[in-house]
Amino acid sequence: MVLETKRLLLREMKPDDYQALFLVLGNPETMWHYPYTFDGQHVKDWIERNIKRYQKDGFGLWAVCLKETGEMIGDCGLTLQNINGTILPEIGYHIRHDCQQKGYASEAAKAVRNWAFRNTEYPTLYSYCKYTNVPSIKTAESIGMHFVCEYPDETNGKTHVSAISRKEWLNEITEIY
Ligand SMILES: CC(C)(COP(=O)(O)OP(=O)(O)OC[C@H]1O[C@@H](n2cnc3c(N)ncnc32)[C@H](O)[C@@H]1OP(=O)(O)O)[C@@H](O)C(=O)NCCC(=O)NCCS
Repeated sequence: MVLETKRLLLREMKPDDYQALFLVLGNPETMWHYPYTFDGQHVKDWIERNIKRYQKDGFGLWAVCLKETGEMIGDCGLTLQNINGTILPEIGYHIRHDCQQKGYASEAAKAVRNWAFRNTEYPTLYSYCKYTNVPSIKTAESIGMHFVCEYPDETNGKTHVSAISRKEWLNEITEIY
């Protein structure tokens, strides 16, 4: 187990998460913003890539599970991504279609944000997506991120970048406590 929130557990992915993750990433309704639909091999590669990230970087996309049942309903975590030519720490999230709009992505991403600022030295955390991906942009904003830039991109046409700095995060948590 890596992280615990009110309703969720975030833990490392493992190969036998395949079926649960396929229900998330293999659903074209959820993944409309991707240039291709995920098939079984893409999902297996996704899990393998994240297991390698845990070993190499100490973080990756983690399995998002319902605390009550243990069921995996998505992923959320920190990865290093090439954002407009620079490798930057990015918070990513994917939630199964029937579990969306219940606050799970925000809840998981907030825990990842807190973990990242407490356990790494990155001064800023980013989130990026296709410019039309409103749910993703709103999730980024729900964890205190704000618009940074949009840049032309072959995959997305245009990519939208949001970010939160360590200083902004500290201000936010100081206001709470
Ligand atoms: C982006 C995604 C993870 C959001 O998951 P979710 O659990 O539904 O998100 P939440 O319920 O926590 O909502 C987060 C914010 O997004 C908004 N939102 C969620 N779905 C929305 C929708 N379909 N339309 C408009 N706003 C939406 C919520 O209202 C909330 O905003 P608020 O804080 O202003 O109220 C989910 O839509 C998804 O898996 N999309 C496909 C994968 C993806 O695009 N990932 C990110 C880019 S790689």
